Amino acid sequence: MKPLKSEKRSFIILCFFIIISLCIYASINEARLEDLLRFTRGCDAANNSSSTSSFSSLSTGGGDDIRILIGILTLPDQYLKRHFLRLVYGVQSVEGAKIDVKFIFCNLTKEDQKTLVALEIMRYDDIIILNCPENMNKGKTLTFFSSLPDLFNDTDRPYPPYHYVMKADDDTFLRLPNFVESLKPLPREDLYYGYVIPCRSMDPFKHYMSGMGYLVSWDIAEWIKESEIPRKHFEGPEDKVFGEWMREGRRGKNRFNGKWSMYNFPEPPTTCTHELWPDTIAVHLLKNQVKWIRTLKYFNFTASMKPSKLYHIP
Ligand SMILES: *[C@@H]1O[C@H](CO)[C@@H](O)[C@H](O)[C@H]1NC(C)=O
Ligand SMILES: *[C@@H]1O[C@H](CO)[C@@H](O)[C@H](O)[C@H]1NC(C)=O
Ligand SMILES: *[C@@H]1O[C@H](CO)[C@@H](O)[C@H](O)[C@H]1NC(C)=O
Ligand SMILES: *[C@@H]1O[C@H](CO)[C@@H](O)[C@H](O)[C@H]1NC(C)=O
Ligand SMILES: *[C@@H]1O[C@H](CO)[C@@H](O)[C@H](O)[C@H]1NC(C)=O
Repeated sequence: MKPLKSEKRSFIILCFFIIISLCIYASINEARLEDLLRFTRGCDAANNSSSTSSFSSLSTGGGDDIRILIGILTLPDQYLKRHFLRLVYGVQSVEGAKIDVKFIFCNLTKEDQKTLVALEIMRYDDIIILNCPENMNKGKTLTFFSSLPDLFNDTDRPYPPYHYVMKADDDTFLRLPNFVESLKPLPREDLYYGYVIPCRSMDPFKHYMSGMGYLVSWDIAEWIKESEIPRKHFEGPEDKVFGEWMREGRRGKNRFNGKWSMYNFPEPPTTCTHELWPDTIAVHLLKNQVKWIRTLKYFNFTASMKPSKLYHIP
């Protein structure tokens, strides 16, 4: 009996060290807490000498998840906007997908930003500061896409780090579960997804995808980094210019037109607007709080709030 006991003890010690190193690994890699927990449970069960096989449950749990990076291009001073969007995206949860929403801007320009943005990063870690002067229509989109391969090239990440990368506006509301559902059947290579411009067109090869939010597969971000085509020509309306790169580089053989699941807010009506309706992925041009609230209310966005005696919202 004795040797068995000491075997058990050293096994428990081994488990302990593995857990500690996993914790360190997890904090570095954002490995999923679930996997960690599942693994610790494996160790617990192994306390029972007959059930060591549960170790096999340590694996790439969620390895089949779609990984999506949503980059919201915004400006350093938009603190309240970021606060609001963190709420809007933070309360949506999606099965079968790992979605990172990050705010993208160029170099900070003011003294107070160095403190305020640093605080946000410490608390939320959802900001990417690109190496560029803040600009509109002068290549911020190019800097964003072409920086991604190096920003996410850590060897301990899976490859590709994200299957898809989206560029979105800060006045766009994305319904993440519907968004992910729409992506599931689509190819993970050479994909260019969005709301095709011109507004009346339903042909995804017509011109280009609207800046409200377009998505490409990771190979296109790599192509943008490597190719001369975007570098030759990046000034001008960024979504249009992006579409021109796709055409000139013969990229985006796979296209998906999200219209009319993606549209502009119904008011004021134009050829790009649509009534709010259940089959919605994205609503764009939410330029003020009234429009945001009308949209969130329409989708019963707060209906899943837990009841409690601590508050009462009629
Ligand atoms: C230990 O193993 C026995 C036999 O396989 C099983 O019946 C029992 O439920 C296990 N106990 C724990 C705590 O896992
Ligand atoms: C593990 O085993 C020890 C004795 O070997 C026992 O006291 C303890 O309750 C067990 N823990 C679990 C979780 O089964
Ligand atoms: C942005 O800031 C970094 C360091 O803070 C600096 O090295 C770089 O030259 C700046 N880039 C631009 C385009 O201003
Ligand atoms: C990632 O890219 C950076 C910048 O190009 C480079 O310095 C670094 O060596 C790369 N790391 C890996 C693991 O490829
Ligand atoms: C919101 O909830 C109402 C009442 O339950 C329901 O009739 C409506 O269909 C829901 N709207 C959406 C977009 O799901």
